[in-house]
Amino acid sequence: MKPIDCSIQREVDVYVAMSHARELATAVGFSAVDRTRIEIVILELTRNLLVHAGGGTLTLTRMSDPVSGPGLTVTAVDTGPGIADIELALQDGYSTAHTLGAGLPGVRRLMDEFSIESTVGVGTCVRATKWLSTPRRRSVYGR
Ligand SMILES: Nc1ncnc2c1ncn2[C@@H]1O[C@H](COP(=O)(O)OP(=O)(O)O)[C@@H](O)[C@H]1O
Ligand SMILES: [Mg+2]
Repeated sequence: MKPIDCSIQREVDVYVAMSHARELATAVGFSAVDRTRIEIVILELTRNLLVHAGGGTLTLTRMSDPVSGPGLTVTAVDTGPGIADIELALQDGYSTAHTLGAGLPGVRRLMDEFSIESTVGVGTCVRATKWLSTPRRRSVYGR
């Protein structure tokens, strides 16, 4: 199945992305709890696109991995200011916008795989994957 690209330029775009994500998460077979986790991830990443990067693109990809099985990858890409210190941005409570600073660390905890690539002045790519069943889930995520 082709990835779904959602342009996130305004608040209303978040709801379109959310409805695609719900549909895809249901199709993959995620539980209600996991669907809610994925919804929170969509909210946080789209918020970051709007607040920190002036918009971007959220891509939803249905995964089918020979080892990990079915899953869903959420990718948020922007050409905003970038993140100078990624380790710092991943700390609970760190925010340059005087908000909660719980977005990125929260996304990392809610999903099974997480990565950020960012270059100052060029942009940011955040990618997070949840697998339907996660026998090899990393224990550092505390679940
Ligand atoms: N897409 C982005 N582009 C640039 N900076 C970002 C982006 N996403 C997050 N950041 C930086 O990482 C910090 C932490 O993000 P987050 O954990 O979501 O907290 P918050 O959004 O409440 O500030 C932000 O304050 C911002 O400095
Ligand atoms: Mg945020």
